[in-house]
Amino acid sequence: MLPASISDYRELARRRLPRMIFDYIDGGSYAEVTLARNVADMEAIALRQRVMKDMSRLSTAVTLFGEPMAMPLALAPVGMAGMYGRRGEVQAARAAKAAGVPFCLSTVGICPLEEVGQGAGTPPWFQLYMLKDRGYMRELLARAKDVGSRVLVFTVDLPVPGTRYRDVRSGLSSRAAGPGANVNRVWQGLTRPGWLWDVYLNGRPHVFGNVAKAVPQAKGFNDFWGWIGANFDRTVAWKEIDWVRESWDGPVVLKGVLDVEDAREAVRAGADGIVVSNHGGRQLDGVKSSIAALPRIADAVGGDLTVLMDGGVRSGLDILKALALGAKGVMIGRAWAYALGAGGQPMIERMLGTLRAELATAMILTGCTDVQHADKTLLDAAV
Ligand code: FNR
Repeated sequence: MLPASISDYRELARRRLPRMIFDYIDGGSYAEVTLARNVADMEAIALRQRVMKDMSRLSTAVTLFGEPMAMPLALAPVGMAGMYGRRGEVQAARAAKAAGVPFCLSTVGICPLEEVGQGAGTPPWFQLYMLKDRGYMRELLARAKDVGSRVLVFTVDLPVPGTRYRDVRSGLSSRAAGPGANVNRVWQGLTRPGWLWDVYLNGRPHVFGNVAKAVPQAKGFNDFWGWIGANFDRTVAWKEIDWVRESWDGPVVLKGVLDVEDAREAVRAGADGIVVSNHGGRQLDGVKSSIAALPRIADAVGGDLTVLMDGGVRSGLDILKALALGAKGVMIGRAWAYALGAGGQPMIERMLGTLRAELATAMILTGCTDVQHADKTLLDAAV
């Protein structure tokens, strides 16, 4: 099958990846209510069809945080992407570069910062999870700076991981089953022939390149959630932005803001941007969708910092909807993770090309010549 839509990439990834890995990408927390809302609420928004406008000139280009981009989109940080394809983060970073958009590397990526920076020829944006060991955090930020990363995406919605039932069932999360209970099931889950060769036998199978020194490698992958629970810092509060600033002179973007009060607090704390996000429905299940939270937040703080959003973006049309509701850009998580699992860099490039073409088509059919001018007038107010 030649993939046309994001759901096609999802299907290809489902066929190719071990079940455990696919479920980790695809799933959300608890009953996956918010995960479903992210998509359903996006679908429910009605664009306004306009005709007979000269659309010969069209621009999807933007500059965010001082970086010119071919379209208002960045690849969201996605943990363990090196398990979805060989040296997966490098493949994704290369695809992003080819498409002219930023790639954001997760703290819990498989490929380390240095490998991604070199492999793609462009430094990635870097996503920070705050670990308890501040000395180690300082080292990590220094490494990101050495690689040339400018934009720091500080994820603030995971002081504690939400339970993902699919990960408990697959054995990826050992918390419910008890220590060590998952080891055999991990190996059962990971033995799909094509994937095993590509990622494990043909690749370098080390785990968590960025935090390698902080992770007991002997346990490594088997105890992912246990390690996160033990090492992530839930004391992090607003004053921590000052700590981050001491180690980082580039733009700081807070990812995981869903409430207007928190967005205002982010302005007071001096953030350069926020990502309106519920972690793709993977944290507090039952909260509203990102797209539903976006308009009020953008109205409140859009003049003070750069507002991005993620969650439920599954087409170029969705990008335009988010822009119309006040975002300056979007991030995509599952979309690129599925494409990586479906077939690596070429598939991600193809998917990004499709998103851009869809965005352009949506612009032409709504009469929007420049993404920078997208606003509520692109939406059907009656719906
Ligand atoms: C994520 N997300 C995430 N966020 C983050 O800040 N650090 C991380 O390591 C991860 N890891 C991760 C893994 C996987 C498999 C997924 C699907 C997501 C959240 C991600 O950055 C983003 O917020 C959501 O994926 C956006 O929702 P969509 O695009 O997946 O609907």
